Amino acid sequence: MTEIKPLPLLEKSQLLEGKVGWKSPSNIALVKYWGKRAVQLPENASLSFTLSEAHTTTSVNYAPRMPEKPWITFTFEGKKEQAFSERISKYCSSLLPIMPFLNQLSFDIESRNSFPHSSGIASSASSMSALALCLCDIEQVLYKLENDEHAFFRKASMLARLGSGSASRSVYPKLVAWGRSKVISDARDEYAIPVHNVHPVFETFHDDVLIVSEEKKSVSSTAGHALMDTNIFAEKRYQQAEDHMAILLKSMGEGNLEIFGKVVEDEALTLHALMMCSDPSYILMEPGTIAVIKRIRAFRSESGLPIFFTLDAGPNVHILYPESIAKQADEFINEALRPLAFNNRIIKDVVGNGPIKFI
Ligand code: PMV
Repeated sequence: MTEIKPLPLLEKSQLLEGKVGWKSPSNIALVKYWGKRAVQLPENASLSFTLSEAHTTTSVNYAPRMPEKPWITFTFEGKKEQAFSERISKYCSSLLPIMPFLNQLSFDIESRNSFPHSSGIASSASSMSALALCLCDIEQVLYKLENDEHAFFRKASMLARLGSGSASRSVYPKLVAWGRSKVISDARDEYAIPVHNVHPVFETFHDDVLIVSEEKKSVSSTAGHALMDTNIFAEKRYQQAEDHMAILLKSMGEGNLEIFGKVVEDEALTLHALMMCSDPSYILMEPGTIAVIKRIRAFRSESGLPIFFTLDAGPNVHILYPESIAKQADEFINEALRPLAFNNRIIKDVVGNGPIKFI
């Protein structure tokens, strides 16, 4: 693992108990990460908006480890969750080479999401970033590390990435890039970085998530990434993503909404096209997804308003628009789109300011 030097084990005098807590947001990718290699390293660079309302709140009680106590217990929304607990234990075990002190402590972790589990909002991005921030915080406290914010968030991004690739981007506000790219010289595969010099129109962008279906995905993201290894379009796709990074960043610097919207929609449809031409092929869009997309496009060409869509690895539609047209967008969404949503559900969100430490 690059760039993380593990600290020595804690001395007895450093083995203390305590509590930390972080609230960390989800994010929505504009250029999609799809395809990975080695230890969760991306095949192409990605770019995302950090969200505001969709977040995970995680608190961790830690104490010197006792043989009779479990290493990790995990409570999700007030309930003991065995499956999540196992995933987190596996994740923490995978971190031992870089955080050997984790073995000297036991952890009681409590977590809640601000959004429903089945809403199609990427919960792994917010949950893994919240946990990674807590672990970095514990390290900071027990080793009395100097307060270096830059190093802290970089490490948190790296740890979050090991839990879920897209989680690496959730530790920073607003617009975030992850993965090596000729377009951003500081960007790396190991961690995400914040992107500055963006036109103010993008700082208050809306993302309303229209729920088409709440069913569990038939193919997980992990399986989807793996299918890129044999996808005959993979190399062309990685090149396209790099080209899209360049065009999108330029358009976002200039505030060019037309080009922004074109690239973002191309990215969403490419992601799903890659699924459809994987071997075996699969489809995560539903008829409702296509119906919503068509209505957004029709409304845009009739009204001339800058309202766009993107998709995650699922059927739900993220509707993107600037604050300046929020009133017209609301009317259109309520009248024309809400009836197409499952149980009329639309979750409203906006670009956000990144994680917050609350304990
Ligand atoms: O972080 P993962 O392994 O859940 O993959 C996320 C993939 C997409 O959400 C489809 C795209 C992205 O960049 O977030």
